[in-house]
Amino acid sequence: MTISDLHAKKAAGEPIVCLTAYDFPGASIVDDAGVDLILVGDSLGMVVQGHENTLKVTLRQIIYHTEIVARAAKRAFVVADMPFMSFQVSRKKTVENAGRVIKESGAQAVKLEGAAAGTLDAIQTLSETGIPVMGHVGYTPQSTNVFGRKIVRGKTVDKARVLMGEALSLQNAGCFSVVLEMVPQELAAIITESLDVPTIGIGSGPACDGQILVFHDLIGYYTGYIPKFVRRLVDVKEIIGGAIVEYVGLVRGGEYPSEEESVSLPKDVLEEIRTSKTDG
Ligand code: KIV
Repeated sequence: MTISDLHAKKAAGEPIVCLTAYDFPGASIVDDAGVDLILVGDSLGMVVQGHENTLKVTLRQIIYHTEIVARAAKRAFVVADMPFMSFQVSRKKTVENAGRVIKESGAQAVKLEGAAAGTLDAIQTLSETGIPVMGHVGYTPQSTNVFGRKIVRGKTVDKARVLMGEALSLQNAGCFSVVLEMVPQELAAIITESLDVPTIGIGSGPACDGQILVFHDLIGYYTGYIPKFVRRLVDVKEIIGGAIVEYVGLVRGGEYPSEEESVSLPKDVLEEIRTSKTDG
């Protein structure tokens, strides 16, 4: 998949399917299933590392996970999240950091959260440098210390106008696509219609050009907070938990490993070992 393919899908009214992934088996499953875009999100701070939010994720960790995911992705377009404080310090640092992500991880693009003046400047600089950028507005988890608990964005006329302006600014700064997180569906529809680039919704209703979810939320592999918009299609924690409980019982009960699951020495070799042991 390329950016042109993603744009062609918007033009054709074909939904763009996106999902996060963080490791090789997960990314292989996601890619084989035909997902168009894989995001190595800084949500890994929560669903993989067990932190309360995404703020502790480092550039090195994003590069590490993205390199693994990019190796598994044969078809999907791979985007790496730029972690908190990796694009806010200076223009020079932003280009260096995003450059490292692309060169060292094999990602095809980066994602930056927010639409503050500095972020728009960073997006424009990266786009002009040849690093494609995905934008992200609405609820932006890296601003958790500013906004607090997850709340839907753009619920009043003024706030909706701000959000519409932010989405347009991201497009004008060069974003090839914009994630809309927890935006009322009617507003997401208006923004989607007004942008030339595809919108990817998460908790923002069906009118977006595509949808994204966190892999662990979709398959029930994360036991922390699950937002209302998540549709859990399987409960792998239950399935895996059941298998592990069974394994514990089998080992404790002496039922694992069985004869067939063990390797045996040829009789003559065994005899010789035993004899040499007795011989001292
Ligand atoms: O970090 C992440 O996984 C994300 C998606 C939820 C959009 O930003």
